[in-house]
Amino acid sequence: MEHKLTAAEAGLEIQRLRQEINLHNHKYYVENSPEIEDRDYDMLMKRLEALESEFPEFEDPLSPSRRVGSDLTKGFMQAAHIYPMLSLGNTYSTEEVDAWTERTENALSGQNSTLVGEMKFDGTGISLIYEHGRLVRAVTRGDGEKGDVVTENVKTIKSIPLQLMGSGWPEMFEIRGEIVLPWEAFDHLNREREFNEEPLFANPRNAAAGTLKTQNPAEVARRGLDAYFYYLLGENLPCQTHYDNMLAARSWGFKVSDAMTRLHSIEEVDAYIKHWDTARKKLPVATDGLVFKVDSLRQQLNLGFTAKSPRWAIAYKFAAQRALTRLRFVSFDVGRLGYITPVANLEPVLLSGTIVKRASLHNQDIMEALDIHEQDMLYVEKGGEIIPKITGVELSERMAGSERVRFVSHCPACGTALVRVEGEAAWVCPNRYGCPPQIVGRVEHYVGRRMMNIDGVGEETSAQLFSSGMVKDIADLYDLTVERLMTLEGFARKSAERVVEGVEASKSVPFDRVLFALSIPFVGETTAKRIAKKVRSLDRLMSMSREELEGIEDVGPKIAESIKEYFASEINRNIIERLRASGVQFDLPEEAQTAGGTALEGKTIVISGVFSKYSRDEYKAMIEAYGGKNSGSISKKTSYVLAGENMGPAKYEKARKLGVPIINEDEFLAMINPG
Ligand code: IVH
Repeated sequence: MEHKLTAAEAGLEIQRLRQEINLHNHKYYVENSPEIEDRDYDMLMKRLEALESEFPEFEDPLSPSRRVGSDLTKGFMQAAHIYPMLSLGNTYSTEEVDAWTERTENALSGQNSTLVGEMKFDGTGISLIYEHGRLVRAVTRGDGEKGDVVTENVKTIKSIPLQLMGSGWPEMFEIRGEIVLPWEAFDHLNREREFNEEPLFANPRNAAAGTLKTQNPAEVARRGLDAYFYYLLGENLPCQTHYDNMLAARSWGFKVSDAMTRLHSIEEVDAYIKHWDTARKKLPVATDGLVFKVDSLRQQLNLGFTAKSPRWAIAYKFAAQRALTRLRFVSFDVGRLGYITPVANLEPVLLSGTIVKRASLHNQDIMEALDIHEQDMLYVEKGGEIIPKITGVELSERMAGSERVRFVSHCPACGTALVRVEGEAAWVCPNRYGCPPQIVGRVEHYVGRRMMNIDGVGEETSAQLFSSGMVKDIADLYDLTVERLMTLEGFARKSAERVVEGVEASKSVPFDRVLFALSIPFVGETTAKRIAKKVRSLDRLMSMSREELEGIEDVGPKIAESIKEYFASEINRNIIERLRASGVQFDLPEEAQTAGGTALEGKTIVISGVFSKYSRDEYKAMIEAYGGKNSGSISKKTSYVLAGENMGPAKYEKARKLGVPIINEDEFLAMINPG
């Protein structure tokens, strides 16, 4: 039915599709008013991808199909800013803003000056360079003079135009803005990190900055960054005022906040502050203040700059959300790896919409610097921070004779003398194998979704299994039976069966996840994967010398030492032997180790979705190693679709329509390694 396109026809079609997709991206990501269904959008994208892979001569690194990001990792280059990236003077009250307005007008010999009011977005600054309407470079603020080139990462942010729309842009210009992580994406990311026991981001600003510096554009794309623009620079700007230039930028496709307004008097400035002091809480992104700018570019030029900031602009910072409440007591939490965290337990207090009862004091140094005494009145803050923190003590409220709170010298759970971690402010309980919260923490970690994924066991059940004496270490999980579990409070046959089935299923979890599940200090998810891929078996890992271990990418002296120490323990070696006897995977399967073969000769395979045993890249390599061809889009010529979780609906539909068989990981692995 479909006639084969000539290269010229394909070129035109590719151009048309790119334009159409760019337009829909803008409607969706900038205007928040999509015009087509996701499915139809996916179809357009698939069609573009298919044509691009068939006609590589029309390749364009700025094609909308390239926004997904590749897995390439590379170090950042640095580039000098054309105009230095300065900061803004700060004010904290309406009066100070009013005084600045007056000073500015005086400096302009009494000329009236229109101001522009804007949100001060709380993210990380970015400078974008466009040439002939195309994004050529994205650079972070850096030290103000030069910054990191993060173009590949920035290209994954869907609301940033790669190719401008409309007309009238200068041949070359710079636009500055703020890269932000919207609240929703921030909460999602932190929930995910909490689950993986990765350190949480304290606020969206840190998360945005951290994400932008990630060496993996695909990960950047996944996290959902956004960007607002507020400053146009260049030789031939289209208009004479800041406001009109920003409207022009908006017409070229940039996201410019609707909160931007012209203000004509001090009264209007004050009303603007009053309005946004509360209205900002409804915005989808974090803001830490407002910015006022002189609108006329000619007036801006007259006012000029100080060494650090422009005289034609000023920031007004919102007051941090703060509350005063009484300390009930300081408790000391013991984590899975024995780290002791001091926590202030407070009289419940309402702070920006949530009730705060506990706030971390982080470590001994931070706690002692605050010099907290028993029953002190403490200031709790949440200024953009999601995790409340104690920022000070109200000394006038201190009770006579109250004692200074001291850091504990012994573990609050098991009484063992604590050990200070070399070079850190942290204390740990060294009683790894006898300290209840550490044991329970390790069981809880072991059964987690990203580890052994044992259904039906969570925080509470782990504690219950421990206190009943049934599970004293992770190997005991494999001795659980439905009958024994049913003797525990809250366990019916069904829930007991679920646990036993989960334990059984964990025996086929691949070795890299097992290694992460063991709770070897400093061996996180990524390190465990790297090690497993390199050494392929636990026996080999156990026999490796310190030097050999340090030869593995990602493994430094600290991790090597920790691994040696872990396996030196007789208790651990015993647990490992029992896990092995129960059938837990201590080797990576053969198929990935072999050099390849001919099993897939003449086959074209499309990969879609997320996989659990190997990464997409590993599957790609396997397809090629076995003589097959990996292709990006499904056609009549496709032999199989190798599908993981969350396969795209458009791909699924297409495979079904064309009758292409869809296979899963196990079926694929069986194909290249029968038996
Ligand atoms: S104008 C020369 N406008 O705040 C002045 N900056 O504290 C250029 N920021 O480095 C900055 N929202 O990263 C401007 N509406 C806004 C802003 C804004 C956030 C950031 C920006 C800047 C920092 C200064």
